Amino acid sequence: MSLSYPLLLCLAVASAFDMSPSHNWTKIILTHHWPSTFCSMESCHHPNVSYWTLHGLWPDNGNMCNRSWIFNSTEIEDLLPDMEKSWPDLLKPASSGFWKYEWSKHGTCAARSPTLNSQHKYFSKALELYHKVDLDSVLRKFDIIPSEKFYKFSQIEGVIESFYGVKPKIQCVHPSENAGTQILGQIEICFNADFSLLDCEHEFFSTVGSGFSVCEHDVPVYYPF
Ligand SMILES: *[C@@H]1O[C@H](CO)[C@@H](O)[C@H](O)[C@H]1NC(C)=O
Ligand SMILES: *[C@@H]1O[C@H](CO)[C@@H](O)[C@H](O)[C@H]1NC(C)=O
Ligand SMILES: *[C@@H]1O[C@H](CO)[C@@H](O)[C@H](O)[C@H]1NC(C)=O
Ligand SMILES: *[C@@H]1O[C@H](CO)[C@@H](O)[C@H](O)[C@H]1NC(C)=O
Repeated sequence: MSLSYPLLLCLAVASAFDMSPSHNWTKIILTHHWPSTFCSMESCHHPNVSYWTLHGLWPDNGNMCNRSWIFNSTEIEDLLPDMEKSWPDLLKPASSGFWKYEWSKHGTCAARSPTLNSQHKYFSKALELYHKVDLDSVLRKFDIIPSEKFYKFSQIEGVIESFYGVKPKIQCVHPSENAGTQILGQIEICFNADFSLLDCEHEFFSTVGSGFSVCEHDVPVYYPF
């Protein structure tokens, strides 16, 4: 495991570089999280948010690509009302720390593409994709709503796959090993460099350490209020 992972990463980097001379990411991942699941693991200081919010827009290659390109909220001033609603910092509501972090970790890499080469382009594209995907409404429309009852994983995945026509990556929190249940936490929708929908692959961005991992197929899913 510890040997094959870096090797796979090298191969992915090499092939992405060959395929696209101008920038070296080929896929970008729109990540949503479910606030009450996130807040069951972290100490949130945000009044209950009961809709799927943005976690980030993550290119599949690169991390912290330009440390001297500092987040500047003045550059996205016109986007701030939407940012606060759609991309809230659940830990510190009045802070721009979450956006700053996402920009320096992922945005500076996304910005290698001319389509996203400014803070305004990056954040406005994330908001545009978030509204276009409109995951929260789609789930509600197909009766995937927070509930005391458990869902089958295939039901949730099936709704998303059949609506968008691509495979999402769905992550859960596993409260303990063999708990017999898992908690819905994060949903990723993937795009190519032209922002057309694309299947997600499960290998990318396993958020190790954050408590989320890919949901298991045969374990009932709890979708908490
Ligand atoms: C990706 O592209 C940037 C510049 O476009 C370059 O500096 C960087 O080394 C490349 N990274 C890899 C892993 O190829
Ligand atoms: C937050 O959730 C609690 C318990 O579910 C509820 O009583 C309260 O009204 C909610 N607060 C807001 C601001 O929605
Ligand atoms: C990094 O960001 C700074 C500030 O925006 C910019 O001047 C510089 O050209 C960037 N470096 C690279 C390698 O893109
Ligand atoms: C932030 O952006 C604004 C608008 O582009 C600019 O006037 C200002 O100098 C920037 N601040 C810093 C610290 O770079």
